[in-house]
Amino acid sequence: MMISEAVQAAADLLRKSNSVVAFTGAGISTPSGIPDFRSPHSGLWNDVDPMAVASIHGFRQNPEAFYTWIYPLARLTINARPNPAHEALVYLETLGKLNAVITQNIDMLHTRAGNKVVYELHGHMREATCVHCFAVYPAESLITQFLNDRRVPRCPSCGSVLKPNVILFGEQLPIRQLLAAQDAARKADVFLVVGSSLEVAPASDIPVLAKRHGAQIIIVNLEPTPLDPLAHIVIRGDAAEVLPQITAHIKARV
Ligand code: APR
Ligand code: ZN
Repeated sequence: MMISEAVQAAADLLRKSNSVVAFTGAGISTPSGIPDFRSPHSGLWNDVDPMAVASIHGFRQNPEAFYTWIYPLARLTINARPNPAHEALVYLETLGKLNAVITQNIDMLHTRAGNKVVYELHGHMREATCVHCFAVYPAESLITQFLNDRRVPRCPSCGSVLKPNVILFGEQLPIRQLLAAQDAARKADVFLVVGSSLEVAPASDIPVLAKRHGAQIIIVNLEPTPLDPLAHIVIRGDAAEVLPQITAHIKARV
């Protein structure tokens, strides 16, 4: 199917639905300047072992390695702005069509764009928790200080290392977010996947759950994904171009 035909078909599907759920990955934020993890040539995991720098075991062994790895990402994330793909999902929510955004991203761009119902399965960078006394602190000033002095943030109360409330490999996903995301997926009649390689479980099980409960899957992704065969529509394009094209078709008929 040509991209333009697929965009039209996706718009028709979304226009008829009032129970849409969006599922997003790092690919929706690359147009905002934040690299993803697995794109050939540019993905963050192309030259770093995720288990060494982004696992809970690695963090406890060597928090400096995690902070050295996340330093450029933190600067890009703090300066990033939502892009037209994020804004298209806000439009679908204001139309009353989009019930939830389920995201694997920690960049908070969906909430910053204006979506109200966002399930952040892999956490976020709004707070940081002490690995020793478990005190929780707002992260904004800690990140600003870290970006200035590159020092590992430490707990003001006990002096131990602070970990941003992002989910590292080997950590449990936030259970309330996961259960709410699974519930939304079961109730969706259209499930819109945007910018994810769909390689990391249990997040990647959620589109399958939606399909099993009768949802039609739309996938917008630059690369093939393992779930393409399950999708009703696959659009191999840039989310920041494709999503606004889809909403433009919907707007034209509202
Ligand atoms: N438009 C559409 N697709 C895009 C764009 C774009 N502008 N940019 C990148 N992509 C696609 C890539 O082709 C890739 O298939 O988005 C996908 C991003 O996949 P990953 O980099 O694997 O990111 P994600 O699926 O979010 O990874 C899941 O893995 O490392 C962990 O915790 C991390 O949340 C992350 C999880
Ligand atoms: Zn502490």
